[in-house]
Amino acid sequence: MVGTLFTLAPILVFSTLVIGFISILLPKYLKKLNINATNRVSVANNRFLNTIAKWGSGLGELKRYHAKKIFPRVIATSSSKLEDSEINKMRIITFSQFIQGIVDVMGRVIVPLIAGILYFEGKIKFGAIVTASYFANDIFNSLWDFSNNINLLNSSYDLRSKITNLTKIQPEPTDKKDPDKVKLIRSINLVKKFTDGDKIEYPDICIKKGEHILLTGVSGCGKSTFIKLLLGIEKPSEGEIQYRNSENQDIIPDFDRIGYIAQDVTLFPSSIKNNITMFNARLNSEVDKILEKVDLDLSVKEIESVIKPDNIVLSGGQKQKIVLAREIIDPKSIIFLDEPTSAIDTIATTKILKVISELPSTIIMIAHNLTPEQKATFDREIHLFKKGSDENDNI
Ligand SMILES: Nc1ncnc2c1ncn2[C@@H]1O[C@H](COP(=O)(O)OP(=O)(O)O)[C@@H](O)[C@H]1O
Ligand SMILES: [Mg+2]
Repeated sequence: MVGTLFTLAPILVFSTLVIGFISILLPKYLKKLNINATNRVSVANNRFLNTIAKWGSGLGELKRYHAKKIFPRVIATSSSKLEDSEINKMRIITFSQFIQGIVDVMGRVIVPLIAGILYFEGKIKFGAIVTASYFANDIFNSLWDFSNNINLLNSSYDLRSKITNLTKIQPEPTDKKDPDKVKLIRSINLVKKFTDGDKIEYPDICIKKGEHILLTGVSGCGKSTFIKLLLGIEKPSEGEIQYRNSENQDIIPDFDRIGYIAQDVTLFPSSIKNNITMFNARLNSEVDKILEKVDLDLSVKEIESVIKPDNIVLSGGQKQKIVLAREIIDPKSIIFLDEPTSAIDTIATTKILKVISELPSTIIMIAHNLTPEQKATFDREIHLFKKGSDENDNI
């Protein structure tokens, strides 16, 4: 076809080639615009995923404090930023298509136009105009598709559906009982085996409603695992855990309504105040009093400041005091505390233990190195022994 056209008039071929080249090269020049727009989406997307990660890792905690609704809210804010950058990207893609369209139209119009001029000048026959028009149409049709596809290559349209899946929140099972109904917690022949061969055997333990238990034992004897078994985070390999109501019937408590401070504290990228109240505005007026109780000496400005996990400004002890404050400000009827004072000095620990001892809740607290006075704030101590350790030989 090019040959046919060339025999008609070299200028037709030349103009087709020039416009064709512009059409092919355009995506290269528009690429930077498209890539920048895509990168902005990608940065917004990363921020969005980070937000999900930061808040999502504490989802259990949010559920525990009925603050789950804050999760969709922070996700929505982050998501709307992502949406803005996607809209901007679509704008740039549309602009690219517009520029591409102009070149396309130029190709389709100019080639037949030149052919027309050549005809009137008597340089080519009438039939050649038709051939040139078809030729221009075919070539620029293909180039239009080609250029547009290249312009769109940088886009990632499946992003939206991935995000939708990530933010889906599972519906809650409703048959679980209020932990307040639990009159007795006990473990019977409880054994936990790990896949790497580790095996922890627990003594039969029985805890009554309102009791304050201190759980001790050497590192690795299975204290944290015991609490995770009680909370259903870990499943027993043998034996069982029973929660009984006042009629001595087995019930399944709503684990999300049991207070729990894990060994690694969970803080959210929000203000210290929100981390204590867990976004329950009803508790705002209590914050000062609670800070005093947990011996956390912070200015009003600091309390309102946002905790940034990547930019740690709080000491380990301060973080523990914040999660302790979260627990004490609105105490649950059952509370499990896994070494909540390990990074807090002994004077502040004594003060906090006194506050804990006054809570009406059923409490199991793991702690190391407490003084006899501190231990005395509990009703009793349960000491776990590690199988085969030297400690056992001394009993
Ligand atoms: N997820 C796990 N996989 C394998 N071993 C584990 C796991 N969790 C705990 N263990 C093992 O179980 C033992 C008890 O752990 P843990 O309950 O954390 O002890 P403690 O809190 O008393 O220091 C340790 O030997 C530990 O290595
Ligand atoms: Mg532990």
